[in-house]
This record gives sequence, structure tokens and C-alpha cells, in this order.
Amino acid sequence: MAETFPVQRTCPFAPPPAYKGWRDQAPLVKAETGRGEVWLVTRHAEAQQVLSGSGFSTDPRTPGHPNALDTANMTPEEIAAAREFGVGFFIDYDPPEHTRYRRLLIPEFTVRRVREMRPDIQRIADELIDDMVAKGDEAELVEAYGLALPSLVICRLLGVPYADHDFFQSRTRTIVDASADEGTRRAASFEIRSYLDDLIARVEAAPKDDLLGRLATSGRLTHEEMTGAAFLLLVAGHETTANMIPLSAYTLLRHPDQLAALRANPDAWPAAVEELLRYHSIADFVAFDRVAVEDQELGGRLIRKGEGVYVLGASANRDERAFERPDEFDIERGARHHVAFGYGVHQCLGQNLARAELEIALRTLFDRLPDLRVIVPEEELEPKYGNGVFGLTRMPVAW
Ligand code: HEM
Repeated sequence: MAETFPVQRTCPFAPPPAYKGWRDQAPLVKAETGRGEVWLVTRHAEAQQVLSGSGFSTDPRTPGHPNALDTANMTPEEIAAAREFGVGFFIDYDPPEHTRYRRLLIPEFTVRRVREMRPDIQRIADELIDDMVAKGDEAELVEAYGLALPSLVICRLLGVPYADHDFFQSRTRTIVDASADEGTRRAASFEIRSYLDDLIARVEAAPKDDLLGRLATSGRLTHEEMTGAAFLLLVAGHETTANMIPLSAYTLLRHPDQLAALRANPDAWPAAVEELLRYHSIADFVAFDRVAVEDQELGGRLIRKGEGVYVLGASANRDERAFERPDEFDIERGARHHVAFGYGVHQCLGQNLARAELEIALRTLFDRLPDLRVIVPEEELEPKYGNGVFGLTRMPVAW
């Protein structure tokens, strides 16, 4: 009998409890999602196999895709608008269409490029903490720091003028606000897309030597494609990092010995960030929706063309076959083979930037506010699944 999916986390620091049972049972488990049946991929080796293989498509237009556009109740105009909105959103494209974008953007996110961004990220982190401290000795960390930092980093990356930061931040916040209704979020998405449309028109008229300027001068993307790609950078790089910052801060507060080790040896931060990414695995399954494009064997099963698959990233990252004592948080474990950024052709384009943001955000937070503490009981921390990415709604802190 098929399992029921999705299932929710019951604790902010662990995947949904059902994952372990499914992982013990088999590398692939059949589940009913309410929109049809899918295969759930529960183990690390098979997760890598699906994500790296050419036998699966990520494109929601491919027949059988678990997140195909639900056109049953849509007018032809709405379908056309949704398709147009998807132009340039290359996380949904397969090679070779996908490769065209990836080749253009990889140079923008290299380790060297990200190293050049570090002073800016540091300044943003310091200014946000200055603001928090100026307002008193308490704050709500998700809003004041978690969401604000990646939003301002993306403003810098896309060259959003300072005067537009408030507009940009408020709309991006609505897009990722799990409590806002679908219509409000869609309206905010259209506003941001139309803002990016204007911004890119200005860039095309007078390109500078920055990310969008270089894309414009390459002549390889149309105006609509560039707008879609910029919109993807915004949504992919915002809520993910935003959710990781408060969750990670809380995890380190719950492991004071490991936090003390990081304070004593700041060189250990990069390894700690990898373990935080593995441990939380916030982009759990929606990021990893695929459909088989040919009949193939996987984990001892025959997967037929047109069958949908969800790779359970949070299960793969707690797989006993890949990580010893997987439920323990251990900054010394060397967790770099986690799949929190995915694997294969779609592996997170912004991973070097995300690592730098997390390291700088967390180190600065604990350096500047050495007495940081959470001021509500753990059971009052409300989880959220905005856009399928896990996080906390609020995290009230004092220092
Ligand atoms: C902790 C933070 C982050 C996490 C956990 C994360 C996670 C992921 C995952 C799991 C994927 C793969 C999806 C798939 O296989 O279909 C992905 C793709 C992507 N990420 Fe991230 N991400 C983070 C931060 C960022 C940042 C900061 C940016 C850029 C500003 C970014 C940009 C992208 C883009 C553009 C893709 C699509 C890549 C492609 O399809 O080729 N991400 N991310």
C-alpha cells in the first residue's frame, strides 16, 4: 500500500519521523500525494543517482511531473501567463536549455567571486546588528537578521539601487511568507518580476561591469530570459539562506560546547556550516521533484517513463549508510558529501555564496552578541514550510 505524502516535521531539528522508517524499509517507497502516486527516494546513494542521472527530468512540462501545472481549473489566459512567467526560470529546465544559463552564470558564483563579495556581506551583517542593538536588547531574529541579510546581499548582487531596497525587501518577504495567501504572494511575485523587468531594461541601456551588466553584454539571453533568471536568483537565494540563519543559530545555542569550540577556533566555521546544512536539510523534497524520462532500474525497482519522483534530501542526509551517528550534530564530522545543495547538473549555483553568507552571519552574530539567548520555550517555536523550504516563523532573542 502506498504511503501518504507529504508528512511534516514534528521537531525543528529533525526530519519528519516517518523518513527513518521508510529509509529502513527500502531505497524507494511508493507514496500518494493527493495529485497521484510518486516514488520517494530515501537513501543517499539513490538520491545522488537520481539527481546526477540523465534519466530524469526536472521540467514541470514533462508528462508525469509531480509538480506539473495544475491546468484543470485555469483559463487559457492563466495558463499562458504562467508559462510566460516561467521563461528564464532555469531550475525548471533540462539540458541543453539549462546548460545555456548555467554556463553564463557559473563564473558569477566561483569561490574567487564570492571572496570578493565577503566585505560587503560583512558590512551588511554588522549594520543589521547595529540596528538591532540600537533598538534595545531584544529582537525577533528571523525578521531582523535572517530574512534581511540574504535580501540585502541579493540587492547588491543584482545592483538594486539603495532607494529601492525597502520596496524590494517588502515584496520578497511577501513572496516567502508562508502565512500570506496564495493571491497575495502571486501579486508580490508579479510586482517583483515587473520591477526586475524595468531594472534589466535600464541595465541593457547602460550595462556596468556587474552580474546583470555582464549577462546583458554577453548577448546570449533575451530580455525575458534575463528577467526570469534574475527572479530565480532572488527566490532561490533568499528563503533558503534566510531560514538557515536562525535555525543554525539555535542549533549552536543548543550545543554550547561546539559553539565554544568555534569561538576558540574560527577556522572551524566552514566545516560547521557543512554540518549545519546536512543536519537541517531545509530544501527537503520540493527542490528535488523529478520525472523519469525512460524506463530504468533504481534501488532494485523498475521505474517507468512518466513516473514522478521526490528525492527526500533530509532523509538522504540522515542515511546511516553515508553518515555515522546521523542524528547527532557534530561540527567535526566532515559532512561535505551531504546533498543539502543537491547533486549533479542542478546542484545549487549559489552554494559558495550561501556558505559565505552563513559563515559571516553566524560568526558575526555570536561575536557581536556573546550573550545571545532564545527567550521563548522550544515548544513555542513555530515551524514553517514556505515554498517547501523548512524554517522557523519567529525566533525571539535577547542578548
Ligand atoms: C543555505 C542556502 C541554500 C540552500 C540550502 C540551497 C539549496 C538548493 C538546492 C537543493 C538546489 C537544487 C535543486 C534541484 O536539484 O532541482 C538549489 C539550486 C539553486 N540554487 Fe540554491 N540553495 C541555497 C542558497 C542559494 C543562493 C544564495 C543562491 C543564489 C543567490 C542560490 C541559487 C540557486 C540556483 C540559481 C539554483 C538552480 C541551479 C540550477 O538549476 O542549475 N541558492 N539550491
